[in-house]
Amino acid sequence: MSFSTFLETRNLSVSYYMERTKIPAVKDVSFSMEKGEILGIIGESGSGKSTLAKAILRAIKPPGKIEPSSKIFFKGRELLSMKETDFKKEILWKSISYVPQASQNSLNNTMRVIDHFYDTAYSHGLSKEKVTEKALELLKMVKLDPERVARAYPFQLSGGMKQRVLIALSLLLDPDLVIMDEAVSSLDVATQRYILEIIKDINKNIGTSIIFITHDISISAYLSTDILVLYAGELMEEGKAEAVIKTPLHPYTADLISSVPSIGGSMQNIRPIKEGQPSLVGCPFNARCNKLMDYCKLNHPEVYDVNGRKVRCFLYGNNKDK
Ligand SMILES: Nc1ncnc2c1ncn2[C@@H]1O[C@H](COP(=O)(O)OP(=O)(O)OP(=O)(O)O)[C@@H](O)[C@H]1O
Ligand SMILES: [Mg+2]
Repeated sequence: MSFSTFLETRNLSVSYYMERTKIPAVKDVSFSMEKGEILGIIGESGSGKSTLAKAILRAIKPPGKIEPSSKIFFKGRELLSMKETDFKKEILWKSISYVPQASQNSLNNTMRVIDHFYDTAYSHGLSKEKVTEKALELLKMVKLDPERVARAYPFQLSGGMKQRVLIALSLLLDPDLVIMDEAVSSLDVATQRYILEIIKDINKNIGTSIIFITHDISISAYLSTDILVLYAGELMEEGKAEAVIKTPLHPYTADLISSVPSIGGSMQNIRPIKEGQPSLVGCPFNARCNKLMDYCKLNHPEVYDVNGRKVRCFLYGNNKDK
């Protein structure tokens, strides 16, 4: 790790230990992001996106467990070896905050919006006046009527408004990084666009780095500076968003792109992705891959570096036995 690295995970693995089996949800994921990036993490349901986010926030609960080989570096510190109390005091909310999946339900309907801000700031010793002032400023930044919304109860707000309240709340302690898990997924397309613009503005104007998790590659293509593709808990491809979208290297990324009209080209070129389960032997994508080679059926690919792009695929490995 260089000291300039903003966030880096190294061999991050998380498993859920069930009574009879172990579900490896995140497998050996190594990636890094620089300050100021909007990193889009994409992958279908069950690919490990939320588990990866929760690992960075040290919010994995039993039966989940972060495997001991895992490392997460953030601004020169290794997060997994920090004392729990230090992590809570120095990192959580203050440096890295979170907009959880299905988060609209995480607002308490019996508390006014402003009380959620007081609650969040409580353990960090800010005065009530300071929190009120900051909350109003943030509500305005996410394009809500600050006075009215601060006094409202969550049930009086629409889904899009609640989501914007949560984004404002995540910014309360001026974090360097906000992790947003499916932050627009339950909203209509117009509201989605509106919120994505707000997120872009936050990134541009106050420089907050963002990890934006979504199963929708067109949202990621629109918003992200960098893209990381997960499949069955493994990193399949990672690189600059524009390059990944224009010239996807992994067959899975290529399939994801050509299954979406808005970025895959004309309607005639749209192809649905072949269905199938992740394989337990060989490449996890082998049952669905349209570039399948015999070699992929039994061997597990490593991550190869292709001109700065990371790709887990034998098409790019210099394996003579292929
Ligand atoms: N609390 C849990 N107990 C057991 N298994 C879990 C738990 N949470 C997640 N998993 C398993 O871990 C894998 C990854 O789940 P995760 O929720 O991280 O995926 P995801 O990509 O966020 O999916 P989605 O798009 O549906 O939110 C899945 O196989 C899931 O069943
Ligand atoms: Mg999820």
